[in-house]
Amino acid sequence: MAIFHPEKIPTHVAIIMDGNGRWAKRRGMPRVMGHRQGVKAVRSTVRTARELGIPVLTLYAFSQENWKRPVDEVNTLMNLLYDYLKSELDEMLGNQISLRAIGELDRLPDRVRQVLAETIEKTSSNKKMILNLALSYGSRQEIVVAARKIAEGCLKGTIDPKNINQELFSSFLYTAGLPDPDLIIRTSGEMRLSNFLLFQSAYSEFYITPSHWPDFDRKEFLEAIHQFQKRERRFGQTSEQIGGQCTARGC
Ligand code: FPP
Repeated sequence: MAIFHPEKIPTHVAIIMDGNGRWAKRRGMPRVMGHRQGVKAVRSTVRTARELGIPVLTLYAFSQENWKRPVDEVNTLMNLLYDYLKSELDEMLGNQISLRAIGELDRLPDRVRQVLAETIEKTSSNKKMILNLALSYGSRQEIVVAARKIAEGCLKGTIDPKNINQELFSSFLYTAGLPDPDLIIRTSGEMRLSNFLLFQSAYSEFYITPSHWPDFDRKEFLEAIHQFQKRERRFGQTSEQIGGQCTARGC
């Protein structure tokens, strides 16, 4: 059984929810059934994150590249997102969860954009956890847009090029104001970032599980946190400089 250190709970956990299609295929079902089951895993993960006291949870729910999927699958994903937002408002209010979203949100269908904006507004004063949905999200595009806005600021004279540093750059990303992810979890075994939080993940710890997203349950989440807590995060320094603890990887 995992032992938890409350003082080492990650401030920001970001999850690449992968494997819905494979989960369904393995059961002889259409891919969309995997997405439907995936919503149940989303609910359980949000509940567990809140229970553990994780301040920020980001879920990669729809990438820019996902628009290229068959139109029926895209429609199903948009419907699931709409239904999820409609059905979870009470739970978000009851559990003090504030909703946020990152990505090219104006590409979403009107009704999804509308319920998203309403939910963000209604939950904005909740203080215990931020649930951040990455929707129509692509990290390279996010970085390019930030660079463009900074360049425009320089041309207008509102930004002095000498003042461009990492903090200023971060403040132009969709994730402005959020801490960088301490832990990035990816389901389904793939070892790649898939255009997710490229700038923000410079010092993130990674946890990859072979389980497909619909099977990612509370036990799996707790195991990911347990593994994270055993890591020694040095941020480029030596082990001695940061206190010299021995970890699962050695001393
Ligand atoms: C990846 O599996 C998953 C997605 C592209 C969508 C994730 C969406 C959900 C979990 C449901 C809706 C989300 C919310 C927040 C309500 P995949 O289809 O790429 O799986 P595969 O790699 O096995 O084909």
